[in-house]
Amino acid sequence: MRVILLITMLTLSSGVIADDGFAKKLFEARCTSCHQLPEPSMLNARQWKLVLQTMQTRMQHKEMTPLNEDEIELIHGYLVSQSQ
Ligand code: HEC
Repeated sequence: MRVILLITMLTLSSGVIADDGFAKKLFEARCTSCHQLPEPSMLNARQWKLVLQTMQTRMQHKEMTPLNEDEIELIHGYLVSQSQ
């Protein structure tokens, strides 16, 4: 229930229509350059938010194009939807 609410809030706040297929592809494309794909169920929603911020900083340090706000929200929504 909390998860559904969170995804709805994220979707409404950004105007992004959550699309699992696209979010999954984005996650797989953006999260495998430095290490293997993490398991969505290893963290909860709040922890994923923090990890995504950390990864954002790491991308900047590597001079990679960092994720934009919409991409962060899509990936976060996908991770949370898969973590139950
Ligand atoms: C610029 C390189 C880079 C990218 C891109 C990247 N990561 Fe990481 N990530 C790291 C490094 C460095 C570590 C710590 C050492 C390790 O585990 O390899 C790490 C560790 C992690 C961890 C383990 C927890 C931690 O903080 O040590 C998770 C979970 C994680 N990354 C998730 C992600 C996700 C989700 C994405 C895509 C949004 C992503 N990473 C993209 C560099 C990156």
